[in-house]
Amino acid sequence: MANFQQITPEQLRSRYWFDNPDHPGTTALCIERYLNYGMTLDELTSGKPIIGICQSGSDLTPCNRHHIDLVKRVKDGIRAAGGVPFEFPMHPIHENVRRPTAALDRNLAYLGIVEVLHGYPLDGVVLTTGCDKTTPAALMAAATVNIPAIVLSGGPMLNGWRGAERVGSGTIIWELRKRLAAGDIDYAEFLSRASDSAPSIGHCNTMGTASTMNSMAEVLGMSLPGSAVIPAPYKERAMVAYDTGTRIVDMVWEDVRPLDILTREAFENAIVACSALGGSSNAPVHINAIARHAGIELDNDDWQRLGHQIPLLANVMPAGAFLCEEFYRAGGVPAILHELHTAGKLHGGALTVNGRSIGDNLQGRETQDTDVICRYADPLVEHAGFLNLKGNLFDSALMKTSVISRDFRERFLNDPNDPEAFEGKVVVFDGSEDYHARIDDPALNIDARTILVMRGAGPVGHPGGAEVVNMQPPEALIKQGIESLPCLGDGRQSGTSGSPSILNASPEAATGGGLALLESGDRLRVDLKRGEVQLLIDDSELVARRERLAQQGGYRYPGHQTPWQEIQRSMVEPLDRGMTLEPASKYRDVARQHPPR
Ligand code: FES
Ligand code: MG
Repeated sequence: MANFQQITPEQLRSRYWFDNPDHPGTTALCIERYLNYGMTLDELTSGKPIIGICQSGSDLTPCNRHHIDLVKRVKDGIRAAGGVPFEFPMHPIHENVRRPTAALDRNLAYLGIVEVLHGYPLDGVVLTTGCDKTTPAALMAAATVNIPAIVLSGGPMLNGWRGAERVGSGTIIWELRKRLAAGDIDYAEFLSRASDSAPSIGHCNTMGTASTMNSMAEVLGMSLPGSAVIPAPYKERAMVAYDTGTRIVDMVWEDVRPLDILTREAFENAIVACSALGGSSNAPVHINAIARHAGIELDNDDWQRLGHQIPLLANVMPAGAFLCEEFYRAGGVPAILHELHTAGKLHGGALTVNGRSIGDNLQGRETQDTDVICRYADPLVEHAGFLNLKGNLFDSALMKTSVISRDFRERFLNDPNDPEAFEGKVVVFDGSEDYHARIDDPALNIDARTILVMRGAGPVGHPGGAEVVNMQPPEALIKQGIESLPCLGDGRQSGTSGSPSILNASPEAATGGGLALLESGDRLRVDLKRGEVQLLIDDSELVARRERLAQQGGYRYPGHQTPWQEIQRSMVEPLDRGMTLEPASKYRDVARQHPPR
């Protein structure tokens, strides 16, 4: 247990608002309206820490909606430890419903949380998280403002079932879409089977972006150990909500802040653990963004250097066979970390919110079921992390190697002289509407060796960056049994997708990236060993195409629909830099650097 210097009640940040004899009028104004619903002067002025609870649940965000009930236990914990809870809303972010994409709102929610944490009388905060972007938005804001903060995941749904078969969130949708295209099922069956995946409250029960990012919060040290993947309906979920409430009050007295926890070592631990989890391809975007706000330089080369060599240990969909309920019972995140630590792959000294190091927290936390959480020496897949590919079209694009299937290997990585490379002709789509309109057009001549390319889907081209790169082959090919083709794009893909796409290509077409120069019929060479994707044309032809595009005014993309789309497009950074807002990234530790006035 680290030894923390306790702060005194006079040093509480909330004193400026609630107990400021130099400004009695201002103090009275701050206090009086809180009394109007029954708060007492004792609660506000006797030196109790004021703890914010950032409420991410709402009717619009069903994945997090049970936080509305769960925070009652958080409040019980805060009061038991001598604090005063104040709940406030986070801007809603629902992955599946928000148009044009939920990622548009990560930075908007981030800005909102920053302003609340900075501008209100809060000494610490509990950040309730769940659905994909709610977790990074909260962590980015915690890093920027840097008041004591702790993350409480809402937890995944229970396993989905159809008969004896597991049905995983999102993952089943990608599968059913193929069955629908092949004519095996009709629309009513599609909907009925899709709903099997959502049997209870909670977020996606696969290792999609939600479970990945909540696991990342725990690995970074920002949640109580073992809390990330407790299923939402379990009693342990309410218990850890209570413990989270008591702990944040102690963290305020100990003055443990996010930037004490979010160190370089913590981020390197996150990269390593993400590979072992078979985590979402959205994780590098969000983790790089949190690092950026914490003042840590982290890029996709770090992801490949530290993460690619790590084996897949979590046998959870989409990379594996089980779901989060079983993952939790097998030991959850601590069991993964235990394996990595024993193998010497973790910085064991990194601090966590409970005041102990991550290594200390792992005592006795080994895997309880090696079918679900494998031993490091006996993994599901070797070298399961991301590759950071480069070439003459982009500076960075990620490939999640843990999901490269045997079928994919046999069809594309089958040259005995060159087993990690393939070449193919491309067919190019400009955004998902173009893809849906044309994919079944026989004139495109898409065959089993075609590479599908999606552009105009990055943070500027499609505000926020669309999850559309995992493109399904034409129906005619699916009916022949060809269910996947290599895909490449400047957008993202869902964390629940098991497609080994090359995604997040940066810079994107809309900001001058080379994908804008591609033409259908061009040939690409993908070489995983060399980490390269090359367009096979002369440099002079590439230069000529670039000049022609410039004369036409650059790559065209749809206009803004709302003020925020325009504002974000004017200042958003590329996916490999975390898709952060450029002007926001210079702000750090703002609660101390810029005290209230
Ligand atoms: Fe919200 Fe997956 S859609 S967690
Ligand atoms: Mg998603």
